[in-house]
Amino acid sequence: LARDAAVDDAPAGTARRRTTKVAVVGAGAVGSTMAYAALMRGAARTVALYDINKAKVEAEALDLGHGIQFMPMAEVVGSDDIAVCADADVVMVTAGAKQKPGQTRIDLAENTIALVRSMLPSLVEVAPDAVFVMVTNPVDIVTYAALKVSGLPPARLFGSGTVLDSSRLRYLVAHHTGVAVQNVHAYIAGEHGDTEFPLWTSASIGGVPLLEWRGSRSAGPLTPEVRESMTREVIDSAYRIIEGKGATNYAVALAGSRIIEAVLNDERRVLPVSSLLEDYHGIGDVCLSVPTVVGRGGAQRLLEVPLSDGELASLRHSADALRTVARRFGL
Ligand code: 2OP
Repeated sequence: LARDAAVDDAPAGTARRRTTKVAVVGAGAVGSTMAYAALMRGAARTVALYDINKAKVEAEALDLGHGIQFMPMAEVVGSDDIAVCADADVVMVTAGAKQKPGQTRIDLAENTIALVRSMLPSLVEVAPDAVFVMVTNPVDIVTYAALKVSGLPPARLFGSGTVLDSSRLRYLVAHHTGVAVQNVHAYIAGEHGDTEFPLWTSASIGGVPLLEWRGSRSAGPLTPEVRESMTREVIDSAYRIIEGKGATNYAVALAGSRIIEAVLNDERRVLPVSSLLEDYHGIGDVCLSVPTVVGRGGAQRLLEVPLSDGELASLRHSADALRTVARRFGL
């Protein structure tokens, strides 16, 4: 017999003790896979999926729900009613137009800026205390627009930025050097897009500065040619995947879940998320990625990593390119 009916009979997720909730906006390839990744990794107790396509969002939530038995304890809800996002601790925005083969992320700007303008105020209304993470592309422009629309403090609204691109770079370095990807510390900075670039100067492999890596019998050192080819490969990755399967979803979903966990557990992970630069190496009024401490407060602190002259020039170039796009759309 129930000892305390009020607690015992409460619908799942509404019990008195506060549990964690993440809302994923958009039930497309990225949003649904992100919900799946967050559930698999036990990132939050409740995962809410929101999309205007009722049939799609309910089907995705049902399919995910049927797998809960095999995951860490969680519940999943899905709806075309924005109220499903109510009181979320983290809101991940993945909704928006899909990049077609041959299109750049910037080509999506017009549609996605309009979407942010129409949707964000209602999201902030239903989840007023959430940390908001933009994933929709072009993510740096979308993040900048979302900051303007919402008036939220820059720490509480940021973009997934180059967390994914950095994991692509680390994957390549790990393969070349034969060292675990977890022991490669290297970031892609700048735009999540064509002007992004690696921070080689501060990169390291198991404590050895990457630029001093001597190579092994099977693979040589990371020469300028090798590094250039890795940079190219990182920039071209999404194009290649979109060409082959129409969208990228797995790695971006895992990167998203990593960000959710850093926030909900107040991990203070250093992640290259895209946030507003105010005076970063003299650069401001633009959202782009640099290594940032991510915790319960969101994008809490930007790390002033040492930059070579070339890296600083690349950062300025990326900032200028993004500012030009933002102005073109009246931001
Ligand atoms: C990616 O980099 C398309 O932005 C997406 O996978």
